[in-house]
Amino acid sequence: MITVNFIRTNNDKVQVEVPEGTTLMEAAKQADLNEIPGDCGGNCSCCTCHVHINNAWVAKVGKVSYNSIEESLIEYEGEFRPGQSKLSCQIKLTNELDGLTVHLIDDELL
Ligand code: FES
Repeated sequence: MITVNFIRTNNDKVQVEVPEGTTLMEAAKQADLNEIPGDCGGNCSCCTCHVHINNAWVAKVGKVSYNSIEESLIEYEGEFRPGQSKLSCQIKLTNELDGLTVHLIDDELL
């Protein structure tokens, strides 16, 4: 199992355990996080699964690929932060990401 820590904008932490291979968006859905509606079901077309990766995890998660569909969507988001912004549906949770910490974006801003 992989543990993920979601940090809300008020700094509340929501921890969830999911099987390896689950996407970060699916983990958020499992935890009933309304900040991640995941409207397109993980098809990289809605941006409602945008999160900020905690700085300590950016290197392990990796940045959004240059010229990718993910980049073309996310770079226009109001809360876009180069290096930290990711679409959570594009992150598959592996053992290497056990303990991953991500910051949620206020759903009013989506
Ligand atoms: Fe739609 Fe991630 S769930 S882009």
